[in-house]
Amino acid sequence: DWTMDAYRDEAVQRIRDQVGDGKVICALSGGVDSSVAAVLIHEAIGEQLTCVYVDHGLMRKAESEQVVGMFREHYNLPLIHADESELFLGKLEGVSDPETKRKIIGGLFIDVFEKYAKQIGGADFLAQGTLYPDVIESVSFSGGPSVTIKSHHNVGGLPERMNMQLVEPLRELFKDEVRALGRELGLPDSFIGRHPFPGPGLAIRCPGEITRAKLDILREADAVYIDQIRKHGLYDEIWQAFVAILPVRTVGVMGDGRTYDFACALRAVTSVDGMTADYYPFTHEFLGETATRIINEVPGINRVTYDITSKPPGTIEWE
Ligand code: XMP
Repeated sequence: DWTMDAYRDEAVQRIRDQVGDGKVICALSGGVDSSVAAVLIHEAIGEQLTCVYVDHGLMRKAESEQVVGMFREHYNLPLIHADESELFLGKLEGVSDPETKRKIIGGLFIDVFEKYAKQIGGADFLAQGTLYPDVIESVSFSGGPSVTIKSHHNVGGLPERMNMQLVEPLRELFKDEVRALGRELGLPDSFIGRHPFPGPGLAIRCPGEITRAKLDILREADAVYIDQIRKHGLYDEIWQAFVAILPVRTVGVMGDGRTYDFACALRAVTSVDGMTADYYPFTHEFLGETATRIINEVPGINRVTYDITSKPPGTIEWE
């Protein structure tokens, strides 16, 4: 793509002009936006960039290993894998209110990020994968598909607190352009096409109190569901798909005995920008097969429902 090729050169030059010989730190989430921003900035300034991947213990099955592994394998950029799951899950214990969860996660994220920034001797710039829609809609809804420390976690203040300036090389781009730029920069297709994942992660897919046991069950169920979607060739038609584990246990029968396990809800929507969404019209065969697989393969779940709410009036996430 010659347009993106030219854009890439221009963007690299602009980053060099802005940063000079300063140090840049970037929060890498594994999402498309922060990944493309990181790779582009790395191309521009190399070792002056350090990335921090904060694992809050609310990622999906094998996700942290995949993200960190991909970056270590394909790109030689300095990357800190910060496993802070004990901290986050500890502070979330007993918390069930959705906005309180978000506030706790956002606040801790800033603290953790600041800790690692200090550890590398500070930085002059904070890199963020802010997109054009984030710039124009930054106050209009709770988060968005892209990942920035400010809007994503609804917490400002880090750049001020640490006396850093922002580097936002994707500020003029829309999502599809970021994907094109990512391809231009050699990010694997599997990565570029990934569904958006919210900053608070599985915390908002586990309505009510979060426990490690529930998170483990949720991760397994979600992995089976996504595997089904991929096997049926539906992944790219869907904007976002995930499982939510419900805060209710129900009675079931298995073999000779009764079970008393969690119910879960499958969610899948189509959307252009996440602002409005329609539920995805799976076939009954697909839904039945998926329910059977989840119940057979995931101990702890004995009932599967499908969420057929569109947005509005529903939100995409359950919290
Ligand atoms: P809702 O649930 O509001 O989601 O319809 C719209 C889009 O935003 C994502 N989302 C979030 N992203 N922090 C984020 O970074 C959040 O707190 C948050 N809440 C929702 C959601 O995954 C969907 O893509």
